[in-house]
Amino acid sequence: MGNQYLTDSLLFPFVERFMEDLEPSAASTAMFRTVASNHGIPAVRSSVARLLSSLTALSRPRSILEIGTGAGFSTHALMEGADRKTLERFVTLEFNHKRLEVARQMAERLGWANRVQMLHTNALEFMACNRDDFDFIFVDAIKRHYPIYMEYIRRLKWKVAVFDNVLYRGLVSMPRAEVSPALRSSLQGMENFLRQMLEDPTVQATLIPAGDGILLMQNRHGQLRPENT
Ligand SMILES: C[S@@+](CC[C@H](N)C(=O)[O-])C[C@H]1O[C@@H](n2cnc3c(N)ncnc32)[C@H](O)[C@@H]1O
Repeated sequence: MGNQYLTDSLLFPFVERFMEDLEPSAASTAMFRTVASNHGIPAVRSSVARLLSSLTALSRPRSILEIGTGAGFSTHALMEGADRKTLERFVTLEFNHKRLEVARQMAERLGWANRVQMLHTNALEFMACNRDDFDFIFVDAIKRHYPIYMEYIRRLKWKVAVFDNVLYRGLVSMPRAEVSPALRSSLQGMENFLRQMLEDPTVQATLIPAGDGILLMQNRHGQLRPENT
């Protein structure tokens, strides 16, 4: 496969640049960009960070679980939108000790260190044992594990689940013959996962071409909290 399909964005680069130029640049975003790039830690694009803030603002979760902390940029974005008066619990999971240390330092600097439980753990092991429910779950970890995480999520009471990077920079949409054989099975795995979730009658699922592709799901059996609680 040639690299012509691999861009940083699903949008035309000039559209992505235009959108980013329109956004007021928060000091925290610049800080995360610098820190993530200095330490070589991947982070969501700023368009995805804004989407995450909007989603927690709209869904007003009492509890949030994040799988894949990295340097904490998405943790910060989720916190930004959440109503801090009603948010009771926020747990984020990261198995890379150095990354978690960076995220902890960022949390201290930005003033939410005491609001988020930042756990150094393997998320697959955590999810296998976890029995706590979470209103809002954001998954940004190894892509081939997404179906496994979803099976664990199904065992809980949850309302909104968001998975990042589900379009693999657009490669999921390419005919398999045109992509490197080494990638074919993971791309097929992601396509199968997306089809399964989009056809699942128990969830309201939608694909959003933000960043590297977002799968947004609402549990049809999860209770939405009334406005005034
Ligand atoms: C893309 S980065 C997360 C970026 C972060 N969400 C952000 O936007 O700032 C994915 C992270 O998930 C972590 N990760 C992957 N699999 C994991 C697992 N099984 N348990 C815990 N952390 C995991 C990686 O170490 C990596 O730091």
